[in-house]
Amino acid sequence: EKGGFPTFMDKEIAEQPAALADTLRGHFDGTHIVLDEQRLGEDELRTVDKVFVVACGSAYHSGLVAKYAIEHWTRLPVEVELASEFRYRDPVLDRDTLVVAVSQSGETADTLEAVRHARRQRARVLAVCNTNGSQIPRESDAVLYTHAGPEIGVASTKAFLAQVAANYLVGLALAQARGTKYPDEVGREFAALSEMPDAVAQTLTLLDPVRQWARELAGSRAVLFLGRHVGYPVALEGALKLKELAYMHAEGFAAGELKHGPIALIEEGLPVVVVTPSPKAQPMLHSKILSNIREVQARGARTLVIAEEGDDTVAPFADMLVELPRVPSLLQPLVATLPLQVLAAEIARSRGYDIDKPRNLAKSVTVE
Ligand code: M6R
Repeated sequence: EKGGFPTFMDKEIAEQPAALADTLRGHFDGTHIVLDEQRLGEDELRTVDKVFVVACGSAYHSGLVAKYAIEHWTRLPVEVELASEFRYRDPVLDRDTLVVAVSQSGETADTLEAVRHARRQRARVLAVCNTNGSQIPRESDAVLYTHAGPEIGVASTKAFLAQVAANYLVGLALAQARGTKYPDEVGREFAALSEMPDAVAQTLTLLDPVRQWARELAGSRAVLFLGRHVGYPVALEGALKLKELAYMHAEGFAAGELKHGPIALIEEGLPVVVVTPSPKAQPMLHSKILSNIREVQARGARTLVIAEEGDDTVAPFADMLVELPRVPSLLQPLVATLPLQVLAAEIARSRGYDIDKPRNLAKSVTVE
């Protein structure tokens, strides 16, 4: 049942190209994004004036990633909120608000309660879900299924990637309905997304050095993760993976926040993982993060730098460099997350932990 892999998580990491391809399949008819599993028509999408993404854990991180793309493509404000916080404040919702509830299991109690709250306020609710017939899609106005297949490992891997892709489809459908992108631009964005399963497959072949590094780091007390722009939620996701699997203190930070506090944590030998944007596509951000890498290295950190292939500028400041295939900036999380999954799994394995069933955690959190 593990298909020759030592754990379900290893198998699910390897299944990510298929999870992405299956989630995208059938959603573009040659001219239009088709969200055929949903019952929200283009007319309804056109009147949306605000988007909330509500979710927990990794699903929440998938929303944080998608915010950058959806705002860029649609010019709609997008708020991403932890479901457990959303429902206990008084969010401003009305008929023209689209609430996207993201959940692998479709049974997460806080996300379900957020859906109920949103519907009581007459917002329209679209579930992004990996489990057919589960409660969250049943109680939503519409559903867009991720087709990652069953995810058994407690740590979300392939479901997370599929959630990012599905959230992007929602963004493109909104851009199309609102006319903020021309049909041929929507087609080009979808084509770029469709190339990602190959880029993910290629990335998976590049990760043995990360496994090696992970084994060397297994005795560390803590690991920090830094990113900017879409690399920031990737950093948060990497830290969550490491906490839940390796029981290590891990924090993700927006690299721009370093000098506002976190840099005080840097000490000799502390591993710091940095998700670096493309120097060509995002030169300003790249030069800022380059100085962040130098700053932490100068204070003794051991740096694991995740960068685009051919980025020579980072190499001198990287104790370990992972080169990712070149992909469009907004899609980088779909490849940059992979080394972080492998890092967490491998550190946990070196420490002798069960990576499919970490202590204290359940696959689906059905109590608040
Ligand atoms: O089933 P859901 O997507 O609603 O689950 C949400 C979180 O519980 C889940 O992503 C959790 O954070 C994972 N264990 C992270 O790897």
